Amino acid sequence: MKNILLINNKINKFNKKISISGDKSLSIRWAIMSAMGLGKSRAYNLLDSEDVNNSLFALKKLGVRVVKKKNFCEIYGCGLNGLNFRENTIINAENSGTFARLILGVLARTEKNVILKGDKSLSKRDFLRVINPLNQFGVKIVSNKNKLPLAIRGTKFLRPINYEETKGSAQVKSCIMLAALNTPGITKIKCTPSRDHTEKLFKYLNLKIKIINKKKYQIINIEGGKQHGKLNYNIPGDISSASFFIVLTLLSKNSKLIIKKVNVNKSRTGIIEVLKKMNAKIKIINKKKYKGEDMADIFVESTKNLKSLNCPKEMNSRAIDELPLIFLVCAKANGTSYFKDIGELRHKESDRLKLSASFLKDIGVKVKQTSNSLKIYGNPNLKTKKNYIVKNFMKDHRIFMLGCIAALVIGGSWKLFDRNCINTSFPNFLKILRQLGANLK
Ligand code: S3P
Repeated sequence: MKNILLINNKINKFNKKISISGDKSLSIRWAIMSAMGLGKSRAYNLLDSEDVNNSLFALKKLGVRVVKKKNFCEIYGCGLNGLNFRENTIINAENSGTFARLILGVLARTEKNVILKGDKSLSKRDFLRVINPLNQFGVKIVSNKNKLPLAIRGTKFLRPINYEETKGSAQVKSCIMLAALNTPGITKIKCTPSRDHTEKLFKYLNLKIKIINKKKYQIINIEGGKQHGKLNYNIPGDISSASFFIVLTLLSKNSKLIIKKVNVNKSRTGIIEVLKKMNAKIKIINKKKYKGEDMADIFVESTKNLKSLNCPKEMNSRAIDELPLIFLVCAKANGTSYFKDIGELRHKESDRLKLSASFLKDIGVKVKQTSNSLKIYGNPNLKTKKNYIVKNFMKDHRIFMLGCIAALVIGGSWKLFDRNCINTSFPNFLKILRQLGANLK
């Protein structure tokens, strides 16, 4: 029974203040940008999760000195092109798509062969999306049918590229941006908007970046060759992790919650905007700027009579990791909700479109799924079955946590397998649920 979680009761009403662990996207970017900088960088509140720790371990294998202390982490930067490792070094990104894609951009300039591996889930995911632009820079990659494991051999003779990124993928965009940093001349990326932490860090570090905003896309120009210094950072809370508690509060009875110091970068707050459209009582308070990012506390209250949602397409990338949670809210709302152009969900740690749809069906919600859309027939009075089982979800941390939230707001007896998968992104998840009063076994 070790790796199984049992939930047998709904959560009782609560009125609490919580803090959430550091943002995963920013934690991984801090590590990479610090490794490429010069000087000693320090981060507080770095996310202490498997994705981040595996990234730090891989950087160590590439010759970066990383020192983890109780309250902070330090990285001794190697400079833009100073990684120091042996030919055919093997690095393992395990479950982290972000680290795997971003590090390939860093390795574009390194002439030694590196083998990049991942766990079972990451090895099923598409890497052609980064192989294509890297090939255009002049980088050689041999892959397993465009998936991991792959071998990358960079070059001193990188050529700047003009690239069009159409998936709205921040990982692809960031991979290209990191390769561009080491490439003489101007690299131009025309891209569908996605989370912009890398752009914000480039600006904060005074790197040569210019962004032109058009109505439906952006052009990012990067002039390579400029060496940045150290990067000290206090990582704000992760809105993707906070979202589980936002939805828990919203769908529970008579509860209130304040989540302190969350990163509310506009490219990440899609969930708040769509939930507000559905009538959710959510407020962003105490907003502050921090090194180009927005930070705030989030106040949320239980809300009855949630409306259905016709999700605007531009929200897809702004809520990409939160869509399964939004689906759950739609399942408990009045009326039919609709999501279109969400095919990218099939390329996450699991096929999240398929798994979310079958999860909703299992809990008695009517859904219609196509290759890239989902219709949800909401029912505020969802009847409780006796027993629910959540398993075979590729150990996808976000699907597991979705199951926990559903269990605590719907009730019944739940058996959720592979509970350790939360260590990927949010090891404190169950502890915070208990803090709010959840009865977990
Ligand atoms: C991330 C980008 C998104 C997101 C992932 C983190 C990032 O992936 O799903 O969890 O930190 O850049 P895509 O770039 O594949 O959309």
